[in-house]
Amino acid sequence: MTAADAPAPDVSPPNRRLYIETVGCQMNVLDSELVVGALRQRGYEVTSDPEAADTLLFNTCSVREKAEQKIYSSLGRLKYRKRSRPGTVIGVLGCMAQKDQDLIFRRAPHVDLVVGTGQLAEVPDLIDAARQSAVLGSKSRLTALSLSRRGGGRKEIEASFESYDPLREPTMRPTPHQAFVRIMIGCDKFCTYCVVPTTRGPEQSRAPSDVKKEVEILAGQGVKEITLLGQTVNSYKHSGEGKTYRLSDLLYLIHDTPGIERIKFVTGYPKDLGNDLLEAIRDLPKCYHYLHVPLQSGCDDVLKVMKRGYTVAHYRDMMQRVWEIVPGCSVSSDFIVGNPGESEESFQKSIDSIREFRFKNSFIFKYSPRPGTKAHERLEDDVPEEVKRRRNNELLAVQNEVSEEENARLIGRRVSVLVEGPSVRQKKEDDRDDASAPGGTVQLTGHSRCDRIVVFDGNPRLIGSAAEVEVEDCTGTTLLGSIVTREVTHLGGLPVLT
Ligand code: 5AD
Ligand code: SF4
Repeated sequence: MTAADAPAPDVSPPNRRLYIETVGCQMNVLDSELVVGALRQRGYEVTSDPEAADTLLFNTCSVREKAEQKIYSSLGRLKYRKRSRPGTVIGVLGCMAQKDQDLIFRRAPHVDLVVGTGQLAEVPDLIDAARQSAVLGSKSRLTALSLSRRGGGRKEIEASFESYDPLREPTMRPTPHQAFVRIMIGCDKFCTYCVVPTTRGPEQSRAPSDVKKEVEILAGQGVKEITLLGQTVNSYKHSGEGKTYRLSDLLYLIHDTPGIERIKFVTGYPKDLGNDLLEAIRDLPKCYHYLHVPLQSGCDDVLKVMKRGYTVAHYRDMMQRVWEIVPGCSVSSDFIVGNPGESEESFQKSIDSIREFRFKNSFIFKYSPRPGTKAHERLEDDVPEEVKRRRNNELLAVQNEVSEEENARLIGRRVSVLVEGPSVRQKKEDDRDDASAPGGTVQLTGHSRCDRIVVFDGNPRLIGSAAEVEVEDCTGTTLLGSIVTREVTHLGGLPVLT
């Protein structure tokens, strides 16, 4: 009997053990949740110990080189794994997979499957196929990747995520009360430094009725806070179902979902931030008063090199509209330091912009040339590493100063918090010993409506409900306070929401 005549081995018995490592953005966290959800339905258990797993998946990020190196070193550690554990399946998913399939198999020949961001629904079948080959003694190299942007990419990706998002895995969420919902994928902006349009494909918005359905399912599972995800989330636009929906329309559509108490969305694109969206977050009580709209640089020359499509003056106009329409709204930014052509003078303008726009916080990155981007092809990476490092530290120091000053303005005010769970300090204490504090009080944490971390003492029964906290002190990252009301049922009804 040849191998081909033999009955197919049973490759998905119960008790399969899955280890999944996720790097990168919230989009990746959500993708991992979906993959784990699908695999659990096939009897997989999740383990945090790679040694205990027979299936190891790496959900990857390509935005900066460091994230890729991390994955290659994790893969390197598994080089001889199959000698001692035949039948182990190793897969690379996500952005790196989409971009570098050949390179991955060359650098890590023990990898069995490489699956792009638009094909994650195929992961369970691909794992079964890889295991089948392994059991039959042959080596598999399976790939499932998007077609090029010019090919059938647009439709192909859409079909995949429309049918895939409803499968969710509650244990992978940030907390049981918080969940991500993807409303769009891909990006058509092509900033010169950025690899996302290549790895995530063309921009596509999901049908509003699908988003609504998913929010209702999540609410039914006890989720109270929804974060809508998109690479340029406020560019959301969907025509069909009788009208064209923008993000503001979508917020109105999902706002009254029973059980949902809070809604936010990330990441924004400055050029597409219209007053309709600002008016929606002003008028809809469940919406966060928070926007993440990365400026990237405070210098027009650098913004031009980046092809961001706006100037600092446009951004200033946007900020004035934010402050006018939604007073107290917090805004956070991303910055790249050491972009090609960034002089000391240009960099100083980024410092000035943090002081002027009073960002709640900023995510600061050193420019990392990414193969496949315009910047990598056409521009010299001309800022030395030590200069990038110094600028990174300087910008961070200014941002910390501003964050602390802005937080201090809230001392003495009341903020509304959806209680997420024990604070980081409390978790550490709980790990050390399990004796609870007198009266059952622990240190709890949650976010204010302007997305600031709030820490306060309270009964663990409050977790998952809303509380009002008076701010008494702060650091650059945290508001510290005391509970005013023990419990409120609906955030929308609170008189003071910050
Ligand atoms: N180098 C450094 N930072 C980058 N980002 C995107 N591409 C690069 C790159 N090549 C940053 C941007 C973006 C964030 C997600 O990552 O600031 O907003
Ligand atoms: Fe990348 Fe620019 Fe698209 Fe953001 S808007 S994902 S930085 S190309």
